[in-house]
Amino acid sequence: MPSAAKAIEYCRALAKFSEEPGRTTRTFLSPPMRDAHRLLGAWMERLGMRVNVDAAGNLRGVRGTGNRALVIGSHLDTVPDAGAFDGILGVVLGIALIEAIGKRAPGISIEAIGFSEEEGVRFGVPFIGSRAVAGTLNLEGLDERIVEAIRAFGLDPAELPTARLAADAVGYLEFHIEQGPVLEHMNLPLGIVDGIVGQSRLNFAFKGKANHAGTTPMAMRHDALAAAAEWIGRVEKLAGEAGLVATVGSIHVEPNATNVVPGLARVTLDARHGCDEKRRSSVKTLIGAALEIGERRGIEVEHTEKLDRPTMLMDEGMSGRLARAVEKAGFPVHHMTSGAGHDAMILAERVPAAMLFLRSPGGISHHPDESVRVEDVEAAIQTGVQFVVDMERASV
Ligand code: HGY
Ligand code: MN
Ligand code: MN
Repeated sequence: MPSAAKAIEYCRALAKFSEEPGRTTRTFLSPPMRDAHRLLGAWMERLGMRVNVDAAGNLRGVRGTGNRALVIGSHLDTVPDAGAFDGILGVVLGIALIEAIGKRAPGISIEAIGFSEEEGVRFGVPFIGSRAVAGTLNLEGLDERIVEAIRAFGLDPAELPTARLAADAVGYLEFHIEQGPVLEHMNLPLGIVDGIVGQSRLNFAFKGKANHAGTTPMAMRHDALAAAAEWIGRVEKLAGEAGLVATVGSIHVEPNATNVVPGLARVTLDARHGCDEKRRSSVKTLIGAALEIGERRGIEVEHTEKLDRPTMLMDEGMSGRLARAVEKAGFPVHHMTSGAGHDAMILAERVPAAMLFLRSPGGISHHPDESVRVEDVEAAIQTGVQFVVDMERASV
């Protein structure tokens, strides 16, 4: 079977490994992650790769000696009710590329990695897998629930330092669906990512006073949900004015009953912008707005910062080599910025990193309708082969 069709078939098969019947949800070190390791690990072994799962639950396969390795990876975890390609396609393409290269570029070691946690769904902490590999995971301050999950998966948290990338690794390449409408709008198959926008993630708690919905006059309420709702409107308005993307993606209300004035509303904020200064000042404004609304309504407002990732530029040298590989493989070169976060922004702190986007039909992602075109997958594989062959030529 042609490698592109096979890669898509693998992604579709992996999408069935889920914690939830009838939809794709595979979070950090959940039982279906073991099935994903088994399916991909078997393919890696058939290609003669040395396979292991590291202490952070990353699936790792090495082609060649492992010295001066090019790392090709992405994440194996998903958002709830996900599509079949976000992250997973990048892992599958790493293996498909090794298969397509075959005996060519024998001198180039490749390490294919399926990271265990990029989305941050299970514990609200993203990039656990890639930060363990980059050596930037704060092991001392690691959330006890994460340590427990590592143990429950049969791994040893004390071994986490051994997950670090070898010091002589030469670079990191990530294939990923664009997850947006740009390439489709321009009718292009591939895009070279020049930079990944920075992102902030925070949790907010609006603590009011639960009371009887029938007997509590409107002017005497401390309605946590009404306060959060007013604030969510402010988030949307400020984002539009400041050229930010800001999302309140989840809400939890207590006691969550029709006839009770909500006493507690917990919400999350995801805010992103290409300029870190603008993102951070907008987040500060939104924190101020939440406190002002709370003050006026007699609601206590607490906030916790969960993530502040700066905008990360990809490596010019690696991206230049990737652009030449796209061209030699016969495809138009287009440079663009990523609005989505990726493991490449973590690995870029350790090794020269580059990313290649594949067109997202309908611009849809983080949704079961997410898809990819087989001809674009083929284009990515041909580009990847060209990239590795060029590496071998450059290193001789
Ligand atoms: O949220 C993101 O940008 C990525 O999909 N984790
Ligand atoms: Mn995602
Ligand atoms: Mn992703």
